[in-house]
Order: sequence, then structure tokens, then C-alpha cells
Amino acid sequence: MKLIVTKDYEALSTRAAGLVIEHIQQYPSSVLVLATGNTPLGMFARLVNAYRRGEVSFHNCSLVELDDYFNISLDDRRSLYKWLAAEFINQVDIPAENIVRFNTASTDAKEECARVEQAIANLGGIDLLVLGLGPNGHLGFNEPGSDFESATRVITLSAASIKSSAQYWGKEEDVPRQGITLGLKILSAARHTLLLVGGKQKTQIFNSTFQGPVTNSIPATILQQQQNLTVIVDKAAAGNISTRSA
Ligand code: GLP
Repeated sequence: MKLIVTKDYEALSTRAAGLVIEHIQQYPSSVLVLATGNTPLGMFARLVNAYRRGEVSFHNCSLVELDDYFNISLDDRRSLYKWLAAEFINQVDIPAENIVRFNTASTDAKEECARVEQAIANLGGIDLLVLGLGPNGHLGFNEPGSDFESATRVITLSAASIKSSAQYWGKEEDVPRQGITLGLKILSAARHTLLLVGGKQKTQIFNSTFQGPVTNSIPATILQQQQNLTVIVDKAAAGNISTRSA
């Protein structure tokens, strides 16, 4: 694992965008999985700017959704896909046919999850996975207690995740109760992973993720075993963990 501690969120975002661009320059046909949430917003803004300046093209990339709410219409204002589309997809040159979106309105959850897993298999697996860290240690919507071998599935959101998601949608009652997420098994097979952690509200969970035991009560601890993992954390979130590479 490589750990990069940046002085602040802006530097974290710049570093993250730089690494994504380098990756795409090296592997132009990358299969990308990119988290939503507040943390990657700065990275997306920089990627869009780099694309506009002609420094990077996503034309040959594919993109698979990491997670979304479930049992909501495709047009729902809370759709995480729409979030990703507004911040990134609609502003760069990824062809629509290269995008795998969860059908959040599907009436057959099992079939929908199998469809997305098959799509990833057909693409040859995930090349670059960019993750945020849930305040309770969730990855995507793999909530505490998720099996490390878990497949892509529909889950009931934990009370902690509903609470933290309320910051995006107004109040807790506005947060959908179900999520659909790529499973930990498929995430752990990604060839390269970038984890972004920013802000002092993440210090404790960041510490538990990398300095405590590997346990599915904190799903993110699975990352201690992840191949080719780069963690970018700002000083506020890093607490007393200083820069080191391993
Ligand atoms: C959300 C998303 C995750 C995201 C995480 C952290 O609920 N489902 O994909 O990475 O929680 O979000 P934030 O970056 O806003 O802290």
C-alpha cells in the first residue's frame, strides 16, 4: 500500500486527479469504477478541467457504477448515477455505450445484480477503482457486517449511513432505505485502487481502517489486503498517521 498525506483537501483532489490521469494515459481502455459522495468532488472537477484542456480523454474507457440507492426511479433526484453524470460523465467524452448503470427501478434485484456482475466480467474486470470511506467504514454500500466474499446485491442501509447521507438530500426522511452495491469480492479484485479520505470527521474511521484488525464489522479493513492500493488522505483525516510508503 502507498499512503500519501496531503496538506489539505485541495491537494488531495489534485493528487487524486493526477493519479487517475496517469493511469488512463497508461491504460486508455481502463474499466473505471468511481465513488460518489462529497470526497471525490474536487477530483472530478480537476478531471473535467484536464479533459477540457485536452490533457486526458476518456473516450476508450468504460465506467461501471459503484453503488446507488435502490427502489427509486431512474429520474429520482437522489440517484447517485445522476450525481456522477452531473459531476463527471456529462462533462467528459465517455461514450454512453461504455457505461454500466444500475437499474435502480428493477423489480428483480437478483437479476439486476447478476447483469452488472456479468457486464464487469465481459469487460475483463475493474482496472481502476476510486473509493471514498463511509463514516462507518462502508465501501460503496457494503455496510458493516458485509461478508468479504459478498457479491453485488441490494442491501438495507444502516442507520449510520442514512444519517450521513442526509447531508446530501436534506433530512433523514429524504434518504432512500435501500442501496445496490458492487460486492466486496468484486471490489477486492480491482487491479488498482485509490482510496480518498478527507476531513477531520474521518480521522477515527481512517485510523480503524488501517491500524486495527481486519474485520467485516468495518468493511474498509478489507483494504489492508488490497493489491496495488494507493490511499490519499488529507492531514485533517490522517490524524497522527504520518507519510509512509509500504
Ligand atoms: C456514501 C457512498 C459511498 C461514499 C461514502 C463516503 O454513502 N455510498 O460510495 O464513498 O458514502 O461519502 P463522503 O465522501 O460524502 O464522505
